[in-house]
Amino acid sequence: MELYEAINTRRSIRDFTDESIPEETMKRILEAAYKAPANDHFRDWHFIVVSDKEIMKEAIEGVPKNLTEKDVDSMTFISDPVQKECYQLAVPKQYKMLYNAAAIIIPLMKKKTDILNPRSLSDLNCYASMWCAIENLWVAATSEGYGCNVRIPLGKEEETAKKSLGIPDNYLIPCFMGIGRPAPNAIHTKQLDVDLNKQIHWNEF
Ligand SMILES: Cc1cc2nc3c(=O)[nH]c(=O)nc-3n(C[C@H](O)[C@H](O)[C@H](O)COP(=O)(O)O)c2cc1C
Repeated sequence: MELYEAINTRRSIRDFTDESIPEETMKRILEAAYKAPANDHFRDWHFIVVSDKEIMKEAIEGVPKNLTEKDVDSMTFISDPVQKECYQLAVPKQYKMLYNAAAIIIPLMKKKTDILNPRSLSDLNCYASMWCAIENLWVAATSEGYGCNVRIPLGKEEETAKKSLGIPDNYLIPCFMGIGRPAPNAIHTKQLDVDLNKQIHWNEF
């Protein structure tokens, strides 16, 4: 798939078929992550690929299983009806979009700075770089015909996954990624229209 086609068709996929992903393809997708720009040149990232259902279950044990559309009502940061509709579709799928994926990819970044209490913007560079890697992986997966989703671990979700997978303390899990073949009826959430003429500026704001 051509690059712009992969970028333009990449979506969050939360519904998958049962198809597994060949190891060679998975390696290619993961290698794309390591082509991302990195703030300190180290590309000190690890990825754990979990496709064994029992191990998946243990790793995501902390992710809520019974969220419903109603839980979205308490999310006070939601300010737009399209945004709300997206959350109403996505929130109830948080567990299943990971468990029903062919694999869960767990990116890991070394905690070199206190990103929750940054002293300057550059303290967040390692986190920013990790997300560049995640996006590379996501676009590469799309170009291979697979789909991905991401979940940011909340509460004890990270601790649970780290314990079950033997992840050392000095690593942070920026997200869980479900990856697999999109189901034919996979739902694409509606997105807000961005008026590029208003948001892309030439020479001045
Ligand atoms: C930093 C970040 C955090 C996100 N967190 C979640 C999440 O916790 N759960 C989820 O279902 N989707 C999550 N998403 C996916 C967004 O909901 C999704 O990218 C957005 O609605 C745009 O839709 P698209 O990916 O289909 O283009 C996250 C995306 C980003 C970039």
